[in-house]
Amino acid sequence: MSIPVYHSEQEIRNEVKEWKQAGQRLAFVPTMGSLHAGHMSLVERAKREADRVVLSIFVNPLQFGENEDFSVYPRTLEQDVSLLASHAVDVVFAPDESSFYPRPKDKMTGVEVPGLSDILCGASRPGHFRGVTTVVNKLFNIVQPDVAIFGLKDFQQFIIIRSMVEDLSMPLELIGVETMREEDGLAMSSRNRYLTASERQQAPQLYKILQQLRDELVQHTSKGTEALELEGRQRLEDAGFKPDYVSIRCAKSLERPTEETRSLVILAAAWLGKTRLIDNICI
Ligand code: PAJ
Repeated sequence: MSIPVYHSEQEIRNEVKEWKQAGQRLAFVPTMGSLHAGHMSLVERAKREADRVVLSIFVNPLQFGENEDFSVYPRTLEQDVSLLASHAVDVVFAPDESSFYPRPKDKMTGVEVPGLSDILCGASRPGHFRGVTTVVNKLFNIVQPDVAIFGLKDFQQFIIIRSMVEDLSMPLELIGVETMREEDGLAMSSRNRYLTASERQQAPQLYKILQQLRDELVQHTSKGTEALELEGRQRLEDAGFKPDYVSIRCAKSLERPTEETRSLVILAAAWLGKTRLIDNICI
């Protein structure tokens, strides 16, 4: 049985209304498509949480910078939908850009979580997280999920969305799902398609280096976090990456850790040729 793909807001609203009237619980998985097993793990989790699952596919122009990969981002709707056929998704929402954003983008209402959106990935991708929170808010308004599922691979994105949901009292539950990896440790990502064969061989080093830093952090607590961050950068460079950042943060607030900080996360972003990879490891 093929899954219905709705392109208009009205179609999905009508469907959701019927489910709600029948008292069904609805889970939502927002994506930009080019689906892989990481996305599927979110779908599996969604199914365990609710009676109905909606997955959206929309390459959101608001979250790409001018010199970023919006125009070349993989768009594989047909393939995505056939991949979903063996998973428990009820409806795919794949809005058309022109009807989804009818007004000029520079005059559109935006949703922004200041501070958190300006650090780490936000520092090198200005406006990126504003684009994410704006589209996620809009999608939430259309789909009206009881629960929304996100991946912890995009750790900063998850913390920012959680802040938005709390700040604006959005009536839904958020769930973060562990990162799905290839056998060699590389975090699955739609952008891995950009890697050349030799870059693909190098790419797992990113996670290996994060694991080494975690081990050092756990074993030698006397070594300062800044020294470890520098060490991480150096290792990435030695492995052929151009590091953007390596940062040890509080896993709850993303602030720099203090003596009292209990849960830590090490986050990294680095370029491998023309591909920007991100990953993180929680401690
Ligand atoms: P996208 O990169 O398509 O990711 C969609 C969801 O899948 C996100 O919640 C992301 O964290 C999760 N995901 C990606 N790779 C994963 C992996 N290897 N393991 C587990 N989960 C993974 O993130 C976005 O799209 C967009 O910013 C979006 C939230 C849809 C807003 O446009």
